[in-house]
Formats: sequence, structure tokens, C-alpha cells
Amino acid sequence: MADRKATLTVDGLDKSIELPVYSGALGPDVIDVRGLGGEGLFTYDPGFMATSSCQSAITYIDGGQGMLLHRGYPIGQLAQHSNFVELCYTLLFGDLPDDDQYAEFQARIRNHTMVHDQLNNFFKGFRRDAHPMSILCSVTGGLAAFYHDHMNIAREEDRVISAVRLIAKMPTIAAMAYKYNIGQPFNSPRNDLNYAENFLYMMFATPAEEYRVNPVYAKAMDRIFMLHADHEQNASTSTVRMAGSTGANPFACISAGIAALWGPAHGGANEAVLKMLDEIGDDSEENIQRFIDKAKDKNDPFKLMGFGHRVYRNFDPRARVMKETCDEVLDELGLADDPQLKIAKRLEQIALEDDYFIERKLYPNVDFYSGIVLKAMGIPTNMFTVIFAVSRTIGWISHWHEMLSDSYKISRPRQLYTGHDQRDYPQKK
Ligand code: SDX
Repeated sequence: MADRKATLTVDGLDKSIELPVYSGALGPDVIDVRGLGGEGLFTYDPGFMATSSCQSAITYIDGGQGMLLHRGYPIGQLAQHSNFVELCYTLLFGDLPDDDQYAEFQARIRNHTMVHDQLNNFFKGFRRDAHPMSILCSVTGGLAAFYHDHMNIAREEDRVISAVRLIAKMPTIAAMAYKYNIGQPFNSPRNDLNYAENFLYMMFATPAEEYRVNPVYAKAMDRIFMLHADHEQNASTSTVRMAGSTGANPFACISAGIAALWGPAHGGANEAVLKMLDEIGDDSEENIQRFIDKAKDKNDPFKLMGFGHRVYRNFDPRARVMKETCDEVLDELGLADDPQLKIAKRLEQIALEDDYFIERKLYPNVDFYSGIVLKAMGIPTNMFTVIFAVSRTIGWISHWHEMLSDSYKISRPRQLYTGHDQRDYPQKK
């Protein structure tokens, strides 16, 4: 791959070091620094601001252009023409399915949506008010206890079976976590409903009356699943790859990804946005400006939730689609004047005109509007990141599958050591 080289000269080294430079299909060239170890040098890049951890063909992001491609397809076109199950197939296998492949994949997903009956016992150990992300993280890891078959991660078919099981069962476990929180009986998945409809059914149906899925909600839910499906080497996906590089089973790897996603700087932001909008209270200029000023105050750790992104230095294309979905759902519900939506839109407008945000290229990200849509659909705030995890499972498991489909090494970064020199243990007096 290397037809070009970078030459590194280091003060105090009596020679320069040549490093291969690779070009990808799209995006910046990379400098292969693996040879530095042999020269007694490490690179230093806390937070991996300028580090490519792997090769991947799944998703491409151009932060300057506000571009997001899944296997080459722009997220805006996918959101308009595709659906989540078709996107799952495309992310996992590399291309859009033909009609037969789609029908077969959809049937496979449907046939794995149930969970082992004994898994229900896992829930009884939690307090009723346990955060559903803690339940999801634990129960997902616990799936490994039920699937000793097909766990040879070196076999492609075993990896695909685990991927299908995870894609299929995450909505079921997520809905169970919600039902456990509110003390209602679990709903078994149904095969006559599509992926998003089934999730809403398992969330909101009760034995008391027949539950009809609102088609606007189902379409919005499917689109929300699509918008959160994958995003290159983000913190949680990198966590899954790192766990997978040790040979850990896929259920443990996805559980690790759920744990990483939970943080408010990552997938926990959608829940944090709603809390922030609640605290702002109303769309009065002084209230909103107070939060903008807090976000700009270097001495205040508060960040404007749902704003900013490590990669997007332009708009997040998902945020645009999410905003459209938000308007559609709230219009359908006659909630176009929803107070939190008004605060969010005013907050966005003021921030985007403020030099602090303009200079730092801070725009709304995917989490800024998603919470408003989910809340309008009756989904509680503590389930927002759970829904993000249900969606991102396909991204995580696709990257896990991609890594294991090729040769790979255990991820083991080094460090810049700043501790003590060697010193002797003090002799007892
Ligand atoms: C997701 O990686 C992904 O792809 C993630 C994700 C995915 O799909 O997987 O897209 C999902 O996690 C979206 C992001 C959700 N998080 C939030 O909305 C939380 C609020 N955002 C910030 O915490 C922050 O913007 C991050 C964490 C998203 C990005 O942080 P970076 O890249 O480390 O940027 P930074 O902290 O270095 O910020 C650069 C400057 C700093 O100011 P200066 O030191 O230069 O003066 O911008 C400021 C920051 O203080 N800044 C913000 C801000 N985000 C950055 N200031 C106020 N409010 C913010 N939201």
C-alpha cells in the first residue's frame, strides 16, 4: 500500500526515520508509525485526536463537509429510502441486499427476537428504579451464558449468528428493562410487526387492551434507529474493537460498548439534552442566554449538551434529518408548539450566531433533537441512551465482524510515563 513516505527527523537522533504513508479510498492520508517502536520512540495522542486505529470500509465521515456515508451511501438518502433492517444488512455484509437477501435476513432477525425464558430472572436482581442502561449492559453480557453454541469467533458463520442474535434481541431486552422499571409485565416479540413496530409494541402494549402501533411513531423510530446505527471509530465502537481484539465473546464486547456509550459526552448526551432543556425552563432570552454563557465559561465544566463533535466541524448530517423527524412527529401530534422544541430551536439559533460557537465550529449533533422526538413519543428520558445502544449494536457488531474477518493484533497502547524512577522499598526500622 505504501508508495509514499514521511521522513521524521528527531533532535538528538543521528538519523532520520522513514515512515510509510498510505492513502485510503477517501479522507486524509495516514502515516504508519508502527516502526517507531523499533527506534525507541512512541507517538503521543491522548484522546486519539489524530490517530487512525484500524482500516475500515464500513462508514466514512467527512467532518468538514458534514458527510456521513454507510458503505458509500449518504445518510440522508438512506434515511429517505431505506429502513433499519436493510441498513443492518448493508453495514454487516457490505452492500444493499437484493429482495431475496433482504427477505431472508429479515426472517432471520424475526426468528431470534425472543430471549431465553431464564433470562427473565436476571431482571429480578435489580431494584425497580435501576437505570435501564445498567440493566441493558448487564443482561447483554449475560447472553453469553446462554449461547455456548456458535461462539467460535474465528468462524464467519458463528460471527454472523451472534450478530443476528444481538440485532434481534436488543430491542426485546431494552423493552424488558423499561417494563421492569414501571412494574408492567414483559411483552413477547411478535413476528407480524417490523423491527421498529415490534419495539414500540414491546414497550407500550399492556394486557389490558389491544395496542396499535402509530405508523408515524414507527417511521420516526425506524429513522432514529438508522441515524444512530454507526459512526466510524467513536468511543464505544473503539471500545468494542479493543474488547474484541482480546478474543472476548461478542456479547461481552457489546456489553463493553454499551458501558462506554453511557457517558454524557457520548451516547448519554440525548438524556442530558432533555435535562438541560428542563433546567432552562422556558424560551425566555435571559434563561437561554444564561445557559449559553455557562457553556462558554472556562471555569464552568458545563457543556451545551447536544452541541459539538470531535469530527464534525460543520453540521452533523444526522442532526438535520433528526430535526425534520422532530417536526414531523410533533406536527402529527399537534405539538408543533412544544415548549421544549421552542427552547431547543431558540437555543440553536442563538448559539449558531455566537462567536464562541462559530469560532469553535460547534453545531448541533445527532443528540440535540433526538430526545425531543423520543419524549413526544412517550419514551422516558432514561430510555434515550438505551435506544441509542439498540441502534448502535449493528455498528458495533459490524466493526467487530470486520476486525475478526482479517488478521488483527490485541490493542495495547503505550504511554508517556511521568511517575517515579525506580526506588527501593524502605527498610523497616
Ligand atoms: C456522540 O464520536 C462520535 O462519532 C460520537 C457520536 C456517535 O454517533 O458515536 O457522534 C455520538 O457522542 C455525539 C456527541 C454527544 N455529546 C454531547 O453533545 C456533549 C456535549 N459536547 C461536548 O462534550 C464535545 O463537543 C464533544 C465531547 C462531543 C467533543 O469534544 P472534543 O472533540 O474533545 O472537543 P473539545 O472538548 O476539545 O472542544 C473544543 C473546544 C473547547 O473549548 P477551548 O478549550 O478550545 O476554549 O470547544 C469547546 C471546548 O470547551 N466545546 C464546547 C462544547 N463542545 C466543545 N463548549 C461548550 N459546549 C459544548 N458542547
